[in-house]
Amino acid sequence: MIFVTGGAGFIGANFVLDWLAQNDEPVINYDKLTYAGNLNNLASIKQDARHIFVQGDILDTDKLNQLFAQHKPRAIVHFAAESHVDRSIHGPAAFVNTNVNGTFSLLEAARAYWQGLTGDERSNFRFLHVSTDEVYGTLSTDDPPFSETTAYAPNSPYSASKAASDHLVRSYHHTYGLPVLTTNCSNNYGPYHFPEKLIPLMITNARAGKDLPVYGDGQQVRDWLYVSDHCTAIRRVLEAGKPGETYNVGGWNEKTNLSVVHTLCDLLDQLQPKANGSYRDQIKYVTDRPGHDRRYAIDARKIEKELGWKPAETFETGLRKTVAWYLANDEWVAQVQSGDYLKWVDLQYSGNSSNKNAQEQA
Ligand code: NAD
Ligand code: DAU
Repeated sequence: MIFVTGGAGFIGANFVLDWLAQNDEPVINYDKLTYAGNLNNLASIKQDARHIFVQGDILDTDKLNQLFAQHKPRAIVHFAAESHVDRSIHGPAAFVNTNVNGTFSLLEAARAYWQGLTGDERSNFRFLHVSTDEVYGTLSTDDPPFSETTAYAPNSPYSASKAASDHLVRSYHHTYGLPVLTTNCSNNYGPYHFPEKLIPLMITNARAGKDLPVYGDGQQVRDWLYVSDHCTAIRRVLEAGKPGETYNVGGWNEKTNLSVVHTLCDLLDQLQPKANGSYRDQIKYVTDRPGHDRRYAIDARKIEKELGWKPAETFETGLRKTVAWYLANDEWVAQVQSGDYLKWVDLQYSGNSSNKNAQEQA
């Protein structure tokens, strides 16, 4: 089986759902359930015996040691992190705790477990660290996109904490030989995206008749990738990536924030027209994010050439699917906005004491 951290968050949950849809290999899903962890994301596999959910913190090395000894995973896929740049500006401590110290604690548990393995189990073991393009800093308009050899230059407490975690992961390969793989991906979007991030925030605010807050001049550029394409990239790297290597993952979809917001408004105008006017009328320019990176862009040629990965969705098809998903999932949005999703035990497990997942949590 594989051991996933952070599998109740946006990308982790999409990864777990995709994984179980593709094959029968069980998943241990280890997640602290911070505000970003939502078991409603996993509702469709609530009764699936291949999915074992365990609530826990990656800082808890004893618990990790015990779970590795009990379940003997063949791989660890590490998503768990504090992930929102704006939150890292207001409260950086949680980012250092989870992203740096938590990754260190997970690496220590993984190293101890892996060193106890022998033969094929030892040589086939993998630790896949899911990271971000933000570690490379910011680009000007004419710069080439980030490649795997671009120097790290993180600019926010979030990206600095992810950069630190990438360095720790790298060092465990060079020093101890731990078979690690690192992916550095661009901005994801799609189902189950928490509505504090640009795309889901704009969709949910637009529908609620609220302002659409565009930071600064809205001309910052991000390189968007539909989340299931990120999931296929991670599966491919896990399957065929070379230990010690890093792989940049991106969709060749550079867009300014303002053009993303315009496209979302236009899609909503088509799919759920307002009585009067356009959703574009709700756009409001607000104070810029401090230290706001101007442009991210990913050169994805290495993963394309060496591992044969390519995204399946264009920005147009992915965004249309995303808007359709939010229109069809009012209940998910309402529970996030009311905070009801945090009442996770009641929501997911009430009256179902035989549920295997609930037993693991207990
Ligand atoms: P998210 O914030 O939606 O989910 C993070 C998950 O980690 C949550 O379920 C949370 O409960 C869990 N978690 C947080 N702290 C934990 C801890 N101490 N122990 C155990 N679990 C903990 O994040 P996401 O957007 O799904 O991102 C997942 C990973 O992918 C992160 O490592 C992020 O840096 C990386 N990434 C994200 C993007 C993106 O666009 N969202 C792009 C590239 C890379
Ligand atoms: O590049 C990968 C990264 O993408 C991931 O590592 C992060 O975990 C993920 O959160 C994301 O970071 P960004 O800061 O790029 O994403 P966010 O959705 O917060 O913002 C996208 C852009 O939109 C950014 O330039 C800031 C801007 N923005 C964001 C919000 C929430 C606005 O203009 N208005 C907003 O209200």
